[in-house]
Amino acid sequence: MFRSVSKFSVPRGSAKVFFFRPFNMRGLTVDALNPAILNVQYAVRGELAIKAEEYRVQLKTNTAHGLPFNKIISSNIGNPQQTGLDQPPITFNRQVAALMEWPALAELARDAFPEDVIARAKELQSEIGTIGAYSHSQGVPFIRKNVARFIEERDGYPSNPNHVFLTAGASAGVTLLLTMLISNPKSGILIPIPQYPLYTATLAAHSGLGIPYHLDEEADWATSAPEIEAAIAKAVAEGIEPKALVVINPGNPTGAVLDEATMEQLVHLCAQHNLVLLADEVYQSNLHARATHPFTSFKKVVRALGSAVPLVSFHSISKGVTGECGRRGGYFECANIDEDIIALVYKMVSVGLCPPLAGQVGVDCMVRSPRPGDASYALWKTETDATHAALEQRTKTMAARLNALPGVSCVDSPGALYLFPRIRLPTAAIEAARKAGKEPDTFYALELLDDTGICVVSGSGFGQKEGQYHYRLTCLCPGVEEYVGALERFHRKFMERYGA
Ligand SMILES: Cc1ncc(COP(=O)(O)O)c(C=O)c1O
Repeated sequence: MFRSVSKFSVPRGSAKVFFFRPFNMRGLTVDALNPAILNVQYAVRGELAIKAEEYRVQLKTNTAHGLPFNKIISSNIGNPQQTGLDQPPITFNRQVAALMEWPALAELARDAFPEDVIARAKELQSEIGTIGAYSHSQGVPFIRKNVARFIEERDGYPSNPNHVFLTAGASAGVTLLLTMLISNPKSGILIPIPQYPLYTATLAAHSGLGIPYHLDEEADWATSAPEIEAAIAKAVAEGIEPKALVVINPGNPTGAVLDEATMEQLVHLCAQHNLVLLADEVYQSNLHARATHPFTSFKKVVRALGSAVPLVSFHSISKGVTGECGRRGGYFECANIDEDIIALVYKMVSVGLCPPLAGQVGVDCMVRSPRPGDASYALWKTETDATHAALEQRTKTMAARLNALPGVSCVDSPGALYLFPRIRLPTAAIEAARKAGKEPDTFYALELLDDTGICVVSGSGFGQKEGQYHYRLTCLCPGVEEYVGALERFHRKFMERYGA
């Protein structure tokens, strides 16, 4: 009837306590879980990233590792401060964070902190108290006021701090909004293809339906209102109820930056089809061609048009020049959303108590960076200029080198942190991939990893047109020469091996 006593069941020094497990107990099995979980896919940390991690351990623990490379290049993830990518944190942000963690430092190491940092930390301490306490569920009111001021200065239109919600990164806000909008099994959310897989993963987990609309690679990954209209018509014909339009601007993985005329069309389209506009603007300060491709927020366009379209815009401290992914900070702003719905959003965030205080402080530093005349301004400017310049230079160099390769075309992205080159794979490579049970671009990316230690994400993880193959790589890696050189050598070898 009972299985033998588990070998872990007798605590040391105790001969008397026994725990029994019934023989017929199966324990927790996969089929007992919410089946929706099984449909969730998140390629950014999928098969390739897992294999790269195994290689990383092998390189670290085994000097005779036998691998044809000596390091892993993490080009799969937009995690700027990750070891190997090494984007330096902004000194001002870290100094404020340090004083928030341990206020006594201001006295103990007075010379280490410029005056404006000490003043900022004191101000935040008086508003927050200790960061070890829960805050208001919507986020510290003072920080929300600062976010609202940042939005007003950016757009030239008022922002209501009561309609700003601080979050644990943009992901938390996106997940909340998507789950609130999926009201029945026929609820559909329009998502760009290719897309950042947070969207498909969240929809899968909460049994919502993605309505894909394709971005136009031939037109530098442009977003097309007629393409979205066609996607809506198809979905409606299939009995799906479109609830919201997701736009990622600047785009991930494409790096495309929307122009205002297209944004206006999208706002009109949302009005016409009664859609909530979900604007993912986490890359708004990652711009590599500001003169030709400036960033305009959807909030500004909605207000300039005098539109009543419900809009939720997301921002984050994970990207931009801040790059504080691990701190988990972000916010979303609701515009044209009724108070009864704001109250429900508040009810839902209050279930989670509050966003991390360290992340909220990070948001405050992002929206209130040092200004000319402040003691920290010169260093802040030098640091942020260097990060912008490195990203711009790497993006351009990599795009040019990729475009020079046979069978590769790559839109030179004006924004975000990535390139999304298209690879035209030889038939023999596609057949070899199918034989190996892999998507052809995953097969290519796995061979790239095995050969060079470069970890990218295959295009199938983001969605792409049938029969097309891509991969996404970040432009954050230092040492572009070495890195792109290895990529080029691999590509030529791969194409030769499969008879291109
Ligand atoms: C388009 C997009 N939205 C949201 C996120 C999530 O960012 P966060 O770290 O703020 O949750 C990412 C992260 O890569 C992203 O690329």
